[in-house]
Amino acid sequence: MTPLRVAMVGAGGHARRHLEVLARRPDVTLVGHVARATESALRQARRYGGRAFEDVNALLQHEQVDAAWICVPPAAHGPSEAAFVAADVPFLVEKPLSADAATAESIAADVAAAGLVTAVGYHWRALDTLAEVRERLATGPPVRLLTAAWHSSLPAPPWWRREATSGGQIVEQATHLLDLALHLLGDAEVLHAAEVRRAGEVRRECPTGYDTPERPTTSDVDVAEASSATLRFGTGALGIITATWVLAASDAVELRLHREGERITITQDALTLDSGREARVVRTQDDPVATQDAAFLAAVRAGDPGAVTCSYAEALRTHRLAQRVRERARTGVG
Ligand SMILES: NC(=O)c1ccc[n+]([C@@H]2O[C@H](COP(=O)([O-])OP(=O)(O)OC[C@H]3O[C@@H](n4cnc5c(N)ncnc54)[C@H](OP(=O)(O)O)[C@@H]3O)[C@@H](O)[C@H]2O)c1
Repeated sequence: MTPLRVAMVGAGGHARRHLEVLARRPDVTLVGHVARATESALRQARRYGGRAFEDVNALLQHEQVDAAWICVPPAAHGPSEAAFVAADVPFLVEKPLSADAATAESIAADVAAAGLVTAVGYHWRALDTLAEVRERLATGPPVRLLTAAWHSSLPAPPWWRREATSGGQIVEQATHLLDLALHLLGDAEVLHAAEVRRAGEVRRECPTGYDTPERPTTSDVDVAEASSATLRFGTGALGIITATWVLAASDAVELRLHREGERITITQDALTLDSGREARVVRTQDDPVATQDAAFLAAVRAGDPGAVTCSYAEALRTHRLAQRVRERARTGVG
């Protein structure tokens, strides 16, 4: 099998997460890396193979690319996707689709018009434990209540800490839980949303190891310290989502489904089926990011946009919901 020629846009933590997966695959050759600073792209190229380019247009001028990964901060989306759509290069882009609503809408329209194979890094959908959840939900009593929590510490990247560059905690982080909720229960409307903000800005240190000469060692934080949303699904189920970053360490990152006689808890590490009398725990075996990346590569080879774990169009539904929650929390309308 001829290896697919793959390029990576972004040279941060999550680009590395994918590159560790891609570097182990004999059916992939890494040909190019793009970052904001040339030095970052060069470092990555030296480690994983391929060449460094100053932007996606330069990459496409010099290399034949069969598939690309886009792992840039939320506010940096747009130009890379436009260049790949114009060159007919399939791409897998990390969530969220953008910090705002409009950029994602515009990219989605271009992707749909081009009929391009695309995938989005909502990798919770690729958890191997979900097959059993889908099977159980297809029979038995309906889910009445979904609760989901992302209770954690402040992420390291300075861009995460500003709503203008990340979109905030619901749009950037709890979006994984919104996506899984929509994936399992279908469409939802926002009944209520609220958030807690400090009056002034908070200056916080960036954790050691993140700071490099190009990156600050402290940064201002203006994202809400806590957010909540109440949803109603088309199935009639209620959904309550809560998020906070004020803890010293990750506490709860989970989604729970409640139906008559059963509570189903999904985390990245395990699925717990609890009847109240006994609980069965099923551990996650396979790396969901590797599963998601493999599905995308197979879809590229087959030229089949439907063979991915999450398409751009499906991710847009999630992004719209996250933006509606954010709008409702900020303004009371939306
Ligand atoms: N699926 C998941 O669970 C998951 C987990 C973590 C992150 N993510 C997502 O992955 C994305 C990247 O996050 P990260 O943690 O890797 O961030 P990061 O460590 O800050 O890295 C961001 C990278 O993007 C590069 N960059 C910034 N603007 C760019 C532009 N306009 N064109 C090209 N490259 C640009 C930066 O270049 P320099 O190196 O030159 O600064 C840096 O290499 C985010 O959207 C995040 O939400 C997803």
